[in-house]
Amino acid sequence: MPETISQTGAREERKLVPGPILLLGAPGSGKGTQAKELMALWGIPQISTGDLFRANIEGGTELGRKVQAVMDRGELVSDELVNDMVEDRLKRPDIGAGYILDGFPRTLVQAAWVDGHLASGTGTLPVVAVNIKVSYNQLLRRITGRRSCTVCGTIYNIYLQPPKVDGFCDLEGTPLVRRRDDTEEVFEKRMREYDALTAPVVEHYRAQGRFAEVDGEETVEVVTAAVVQAVARLRGQE
Ligand code: AP5
Ligand code: MG
Repeated sequence: MPETISQTGAREERKLVPGPILLLGAPGSGKGTQAKELMALWGIPQISTGDLFRANIEGGTELGRKVQAVMDRGELVSDELVNDMVEDRLKRPDIGAGYILDGFPRTLVQAAWVDGHLASGTGTLPVVAVNIKVSYNQLLRRITGRRSCTVCGTIYNIYLQPPKVDGFCDLEGTPLVRRRDDTEEVFEKRMREYDALTAPVVEHYRAQGRFAEVDGEETVEVVTAAVVQAVARLRGQE
């Protein structure tokens, strides 16, 4: 049977060598949701600094003990701890075709680390940055409604992306959990940290070029298509 236009499009997208991608955006903008879509599309890993810290907390490691209280308050973990953790993660052999840095860098010090360490990127590919833009009220709704699966990591939202059976993962059937920092009070603190420390990172990459911005208020599918198109354009493969 002949291929449809959308099948051809999907094949072309998969052929793209994505290289290292920075996914930027405020808390709840959809970085994790989009990273999982891109991971499935391109077969490259998602490296979420928030998820790595939560895994350390869960595992009772020394790093986990150091960061738990900071995260519970909605503040940023120190640049040194974050940079060391990312450096360690990037030693793994699964990053050959590229990777998605989700939630990193989020200070200018971290951005300087990225610019210094990843200047040549994977092979010869430099990093590209995509910022997901979402308004404050929508972010609040997304954060307070978020639930996730501890087994497969699928992210839901009780208002916007509900599971088929209330409270349970569609794929695993296990109970969904709410993140400890997903309260309105901690969200407000995270937003203050974002405005003070992370918004300048967005401007840093905007000024450097190899930067794109997408409207994160569209449906998950539409946002994914916009990110894919942006990466293809930034890679000169469109
Ligand atoms: P982290 O885990 O990175 O949290 P965050 O940046 O606040 O971002 P979130 O994970 O809350 O949101 P998201 O953008 O991934 O959105 P999601 O896809 O889940 O960091 C947590 C903490 O760790 C920080 O506060 C800090 O303490 C520490 N930390 C981490 N990295 C650090 C760093 N680099 N430096 C220093 N400290 C660091 O989606 C949200 C909700 O919206 C979900 O319910 C989802 O279903 C829904 N949704 C998503 N997209 C859509 C859509 N298009 N339409 C409708 N609903 C949608
Ligand atoms: Mg996330």
